[in-house]
Amino acid sequence: MASSNAIAQIGVTGLAVMGSNIARNLARHGYTVALHNRSVAKTDALLDAHGDDGEFVRTETIEEFVGALEKPRRVLIMVKAGDATDAVIEELAGAMEPGDIIIDGGNALYTDTIRREAAMAARGLNFVGAGISGGEEGALNGPAIMPGGPKESYESLGPLLESISAKVDGVPCCTHIGPDGSGHFVKMVHNGIEYADMQLIGEAYHLLRDALGLGAAQIAEVFTGWNSGELESYLVEITAQVLEQIDAETGKPLVDVIVDAAEQKGTGRWTVKSALDLGVPVTGIAEAVFARALSGSRAQRKAAQGLASGTLAEKPTDVAQFTEDIRQALYASKIVAYAQGFDQIAAGSAEYDWDLHPGDLATIWRGGCIIRARFLNRIKEAYEVDPGLPSLILAPYFREAIEHAVDSWRRVVATAVQLGIPVPAFASSLSYYDALRAERLPAALTQGQRDFFGAHTYERVDREGKFHTLWSGDRTEVSVE
Ligand code: 6PG
Repeated sequence: MASSNAIAQIGVTGLAVMGSNIARNLARHGYTVALHNRSVAKTDALLDAHGDDGEFVRTETIEEFVGALEKPRRVLIMVKAGDATDAVIEELAGAMEPGDIIIDGGNALYTDTIRREAAMAARGLNFVGAGISGGEEGALNGPAIMPGGPKESYESLGPLLESISAKVDGVPCCTHIGPDGSGHFVKMVHNGIEYADMQLIGEAYHLLRDALGLGAAQIAEVFTGWNSGELESYLVEITAQVLEQIDAETGKPLVDVIVDAAEQKGTGRWTVKSALDLGVPVTGIAEAVFARALSGSRAQRKAAQGLASGTLAEKPTDVAQFTEDIRQALYASKIVAYAQGFDQIAAGSAEYDWDLHPGDLATIWRGGCIIRARFLNRIKEAYEVDPGLPSLILAPYFREAIEHAVDSWRRVVATAVQLGIPVPAFASSLSYYDALRAERLPAALTQGQRDFFGAHTYERVDREGKFHTLWSGDRTEVSVE
C-alpha cells in the first residue's frame, strides 16, 4: 500500500531486483518502507506488482524520500558499486542530518567503505557498509547480512536487519561485524570462498564427466547424494539442479549447451588482491579466480586446441570407489579453502584493528548466504572452543576429516594429472596442505639465492640473528645485526 504522509522506519534507494526484494522483505516484516529510484518507473513497477506486501511510501526525489523517514533516518542504498554509490551518498548526505544512518548494501570494495565511513563521520552521519548475501531469493526471503560501521548505529539498525535476515536454529544470520569497512571486507572474503567452492565443485564435475564418463543426469544424482552428507550446502544443492536442467530447445542437458567461459563481477579478484597485500596464501581462491579468467580466454584456448597431451593413463574402472575419492577430495579441498578464507579475515582484522570474531562469522554464514553449508556449524564450534586457532585445519574435527580424506585426495589429484584433466584448486589445496605440514620447505634455498644476488640476508636454524655470505668475496659468512 502506498501512502503519501506515512513516516517510514527505513528507506531503500536503488530498486533493481535486489533492492526491490529487500524493500519487500522489510515491508513484509511490518516496517513502513520509503521507496526511491532514479527512474520512478521502477518504483511504480514495484508498487504495482507488490504494493500489497506491506506499507510503502512512494517518493520521486531524494528530498521527498529523506523527508518521509522518521529520525534518526535510515537509508539503505542498493545501487551498483563504485561511482554510482558515491553519487547517491553525496546526494543523500546533503539532505540528511547528523545522527542519520546511510547503509550501503551493495558489493562495495571495503577500502571505499573505509573512505566513505570517515567522510560521513566528519559530517556527523553514520555510514554502514553491509554485505548482503543470498542473491535475489535471499534478499526477499532472508539473506545473510554483514553490517560494519559504528557500533552505536547497530543499536538502531540491528533489530531491523536481524528481523529480515535468514535464521538458523532461531539465530539471525546477521550480526555487527566491526568498524568501518569490516562488513564489506568480510562479504568480499565470503565471495572469495564462494569462488573457491564453485571451482572445486566444477573440478569434481569435470572428473565425474571425463574420468568416469558420467552424463549430467548421473552427475546430478551424485551431487544429490553428496548433499545428504558432510558436503550438504546451497552450492551442492543448486549444482544438482543445474545439472538436471534440460534445455527445451535441444533436449540436451542445459550444462552441455552453455558456453564454458566463466565471468566474474570482481569480488573474487578483490579477495586475492587483498590477500596478496596481507600476505595470506589464499591458494584455492586464487586458483578459482584464475580458472575463470583462463576459461574466458577464448582466442588463446582456440589456438591451443590440439596441443600434445602426452601419454594418458587408463581411466578408473571402479566408478563407486573413484566417486567416493572425489567426494573426499572435494571435502578436504573445501576445508582448505575455508581455512584460508578465515586466515585472511584474521589478517584483515589485525591490519585494520577490527577485532573480528571468526565464530560469529561462521554463525551468520550458516544460513541465507551463498556459502551456507552444514559444515559451518563445525567451523562455529571449532572457533568457540579455540578463537585463536592457528588454522582451521588444526581443529580436531577438521584435522581428522582431512586425515580420513588424504589418501583419496592424493589418488584424485594423481589420476587427474595422469588423465590430463585440470584440477587447479584440488591440486593447489593438496600442495598447500603438504606445505603447511612440511618439516623443511625449499624456502631455505630461496633465501640463499636472494642473499647471493641481492645480499638480502638469511636466518640460521642454529642461532639467532641475520647473516650474509660474501658470495663475491671469500664466501665467509658475516653477521649483519
Ligand atoms: C552473494 C553473491 C553475489 C555475487 C554476484 C556476482 O553473496 O549473494 O556472492 O553477491 O557477487 O552473484 O557473482 P560473481 O562475482 O561470480 O559475478
